[in-house]
Amino acid sequence: MEHEPVLAGRVAELLAPALSRGGVVVDATLGRGGHAARILAEAPRARLVGIDKDGDALEASGANLAPFEERIDLVRDDFKNVAAVLERLGLASIAAFLLDLGVSSPQLDVSERGFSYRADGPLDMRMDRSQELTADAVVNLYGQRELARVIARYGQERFAARIAAAIVRARPVSSTATLAGIVKEAIPAATRRHGRHPARRTFQAVRMEVNSELEALEVALPDAIEALHVGGRAVVISYHSLEDRVVKRMFAERASGCVCPPDLPVCACGAEATVRILTSKPVQADADEVGRNPRAKGAKLRAVERLTTGHPEHRLQ
Ligand SMILES: C[S@@+](CC[C@H](N)C(=O)[O-])C[C@H]1O[C@@H](n2cnc3c(N)ncnc32)[C@H](O)[C@@H]1O
Repeated sequence: MEHEPVLAGRVAELLAPALSRGGVVVDATLGRGGHAARILAEAPRARLVGIDKDGDALEASGANLAPFEERIDLVRDDFKNVAAVLERLGLASIAAFLLDLGVSSPQLDVSERGFSYRADGPLDMRMDRSQELTADAVVNLYGQRELARVIARYGQERFAARIAAAIVRARPVSSTATLAGIVKEAIPAATRRHGRHPARRTFQAVRMEVNSELEALEVALPDAIEALHVGGRAVVISYHSLEDRVVKRMFAERASGCVCPPDLPVCACGAEATVRILTSKPVQADADEVGRNPRAKGAKLRAVERLTTGHPEHRLQ
């Protein structure tokens, strides 16, 4: 399936003021380049650095990005290394930054990648196929308590303990279809009949563990905000409440500036706000978009604009 970019119009609109005079936008989750193409089309003077740790995604982005070939640099890396990527490219500051978290439709659709509970494939789930940790290792080698912790935390699955016990009993688990079957059998029959696929939460949890998704976000976001020059903007789209919580907290901390303990009656630290929040509530897709693109359901977009900085190189260019 083609990957339709979520809230693409809003993303381009929010980033446009930061790119009206040109400058560099970093799309750190390039995927097929759907958002990137839209941003470049609407900001004709901007250059784009596209980052993805999935080599297949970078290659496939070529079709969408061909018209903008002269304005893009593609980098295969983890976005947690965004500061090092910018340094390698000689970029002291950037005008805009985008994260569209999670997995893409093409990754889900190729059964050999092992992301999908709907198709049989190997237990892989690596976005970066050169990394060592696979879903196989998480499913077959983690201790039962650790496995239950992963499924409970990242899957927010109330039957995590039962599922982990069933997986451990069934080891070795050899494929995605086998794992999906084990999960389905492990949860109470009454629950199976309602809502979404019973293995969805467990697959999401294993995927987030394999790809260290939350950790990468925690590292990348402060570095990206730090790299923005004054007037620069950052947009993050998340699909998981834990991710959205991280984004909300980091944006709020930087928008308030003060790092004094909450029981101090007056501010003693003197720290200034470094961003202005552009989305008082998270932006969500409307019913039309969700109808066209079910991936948009549950997406939450938050955005900030860089205000001040102690670093002279961050002055507006
Ligand atoms: C939801 S898709 C992005 C789709 C893209 N916005 C588009 O319009 O085509 C997320 C992409 O981010 C990549 N990704 C996820 N985590 C990453 C990380 N830590 N570092 C680099 N790329 C990552 C995935 O490989 C995937 O291609």
